[in-house]
Amino acid sequence: MDLYEYQGRDLFERHGLPVLGGGVAETPAEARAIADRLGGRVVVKAQVKVGGRGKAGGVKLADGPDEAEARAADILGMDIKGHTVHKVMLAETADITEEYYLSFLLDRANRTFLCIASVAGGMDIEAVAVETPEKVAKVAIDPNVGVDDAKAQEIVTGGQFPAEVAGQVADIAKQLWQAFVAEDATLVEVNPLAKVGSGQVLCLDAKVTLDENAGFRHPDHEALVDQSAVDPLEQAAKEKDLNYVKLDGEVGIIGNGAGLVMSTLDVVAYAGEGHGGVKPANFLDIGGGASAAVMANGLEIVLSDPSVKSVFVNVFGGITACDEVANGIIQALALLGERGEQVTKPLVVRLDGNNAEAGRAILDGANNPLVERVDTMDGAAERAAELAAAGK
Ligand SMILES: Nc1ncnc2c1ncn2[C@@H]1O[C@H](COP(=O)(O)OP(=O)(O)OP(=O)(O)O)[C@@H](O)[C@H]1O
Ligand SMILES: [Mg+2]
Repeated sequence: MDLYEYQGRDLFERHGLPVLGGGVAETPAEARAIADRLGGRVVVKAQVKVGGRGKAGGVKLADGPDEAEARAADILGMDIKGHTVHKVMLAETADITEEYYLSFLLDRANRTFLCIASVAGGMDIEAVAVETPEKVAKVAIDPNVGVDDAKAQEIVTGGQFPAEVAGQVADIAKQLWQAFVAEDATLVEVNPLAKVGSGQVLCLDAKVTLDENAGFRHPDHEALVDQSAVDPLEQAAKEKDLNYVKLDGEVGIIGNGAGLVMSTLDVVAYAGEGHGGVKPANFLDIGGGASAAVMANGLEIVLSDPSVKSVFVNVFGGITACDEVANGIIQALALLGERGEQVTKPLVVRLDGNNAEAGRAILDGANNPLVERVDTMDGAAERAAELAAAGK
């Protein structure tokens, strides 16, 4: 999960990193109130989860509350690389004399962690990395050792930081690493890490990505989720512990096993080309032990998507045999009826693998007019696409 800058700033502050006072606003009036509280000049910054805000006109200085309100009005609603600005952060201004770059990240390719540090930070860091890569240090971090004094020194030397800020940068590197570990982040980036007139070094921007797989260790991270950006169907699926991803097609997909579901998306997309370009409406993996209750939950989510016109249930019986799955589907439809859900969309079911014959017999025996059995994956995908196209 990527954080907004204001959330990253708060996180940095909690971990003792030097940041400037700030606040977040959703309206120009709120921006004025924060500017009033901060006093003097402020900087008004678009809060979008994309880089290059400054260059896009999303970072503006303001001389006081009046101007802060006006700049907030300019920036709120702006589009930055396809992201609409709904919030602005206001921060105290700094008289920057130098801009540096410092980050820690997970280095997947090398199966380790990495610190990237450079004395030549700021908005052109990407160009610096391409044109003068010798100015950008990449220092591997052994997670068992972390950033100790020696490692901090290596970062300061590698990044070519001047002697007068070496001590501060080393301390910030150690603290930033602590924050990275404590929060289970996969990225913490400070650009610019700025030296100001007084000689102090401050974190003036904060880019943080948290590892959602570690969410169970951080109940407080839940509050950082941007609810306005969450898809309601994905939210409902999450509450039911389903692995569901909303897509923008018309054929609802339910399968067991992520690999099978991925290939189901492919065959449906391919079959859809012959039926006016219908596409998969979602990814949904109900996992190995698909009980009737899980199947009912899955069907409920998929059927509640108004763009879904047909559903393809693709199950390869393994540990859970096909007869259990078939019973699950029939019970799930009954369950949905009991929950007051009117099921009207056609289901194409393909059962194969363990006990497929018994499963198919159960489906046939149930004789549900909405359920159609097709025994090959390609054939079922074709039929589901055809039904979806007919239902459009
Ligand atoms: N509090 C501040 N006081 C004075 N100048 C600031 C302050 N915050 C940012 N700036 C200036 O604005 C520039 C851009 O700000 P910032 O780094 O937050 O946005 P950005 O780099 O454009 O966004 P992103 O990091 O998302 O690409 C900084 O390089 C710095 O020169
Ligand atoms: Mg920045």
